[in-house]
Amino acid sequence: MSNSSEAELLHLFKGIPFTTRSSPELLKSLDTFDAREDDVLLVSYPKSGTHWLAGVLTKLYSTQVTITSPIEFGDISKLEELNKLSSKRIIPTHLDYNMLPRNFKNKKCKMIYISRNPKDTAVSMYHYYRDNPNLPTIDTWTAFFDLFLKGNVVCGSWFDHFLSWEEHEGEKNILFLFYEDMKKDLPKVVKEITLFLSLNVSDNDIQDICKKSSFSEMKNDTEKENSDPNHTVCALTSNRKLIFRKGAVGDWKNHFTPKQNIRFEEIFNEKMKLSKM
Ligand code: A3P
Repeated sequence: MSNSSEAELLHLFKGIPFTTRSSPELLKSLDTFDAREDDVLLVSYPKSGTHWLAGVLTKLYSTQVTITSPIEFGDISKLEELNKLSSKRIIPTHLDYNMLPRNFKNKKCKMIYISRNPKDTAVSMYHYYRDNPNLPTIDTWTAFFDLFLKGNVVCGSWFDHFLSWEEHEGEKNILFLFYEDMKKDLPKVVKEITLFLSLNVSDNDIQDICKKSSFSEMKNDTEKENSDPNHTVCALTSNRKLIFRKGAVGDWKNHFTPKQNIRFEEIFNEKMKLSKM
């Protein structure tokens, strides 16, 4: 990793880099978390469309739900804070499957995992690193590309994260979604989400929710609401303005050199050889 401020911004827990916004005490105590059967988890590797999905989810419920900050974000008081919430909880997290509090697994809580082409994820994360003061300084795309492939970035290796969750894809309480599918046909994905969550939402309402969840609408909303830090569902910033950058599929083509693409493909094929992706 690249510079001296790094040590102040990141720390390793079980071999995975976390920002100092996730205290080691909290990370150590996660397994004691008291999940509720009706908790819904929103799981992602950073920059995969977490806020987009969160925006959709909150609009689907007619009853009161609270979308919390990520479970791994904060200090030791975090779990107590979550316990105090009386409403239904949608809890975001960037944790890999192995680090997820075991109570969520035992209670078979519903979990939605959103994934994105790792090439676009890498590019999105590169810009995020550059704009986000909570993350180490990165000088060039080339330097970031290497860090990403080695998993020396916040939340660790994309490959390890994805594989840890993909292993559980067949479980009935886990829904796998792809950013690219949401771009292609959002109403279809939203319908799938409503069935998974057993929510009764009309096709008209789904169309309306999709309109309100477009990139431009969400970006505009954010510009109005930005002063409220409670609106972030990312453990890496409270500044929503950093989230809505381009919202496109295939931006990696504007960043990857042909050589980098070959190297990425080689590593992808090696790491993902047992994956269905
Ligand atoms: P880009 O940096 O490629 O633009 P996360 O919420 O997990 O941090 O992911 C952020 C990425 O999702 C950013 O990607 C952001 O622009 C994109 N995004 C956020 N809202 C979106 C929306 N409504 N439609 C499409 N992409 C969206």
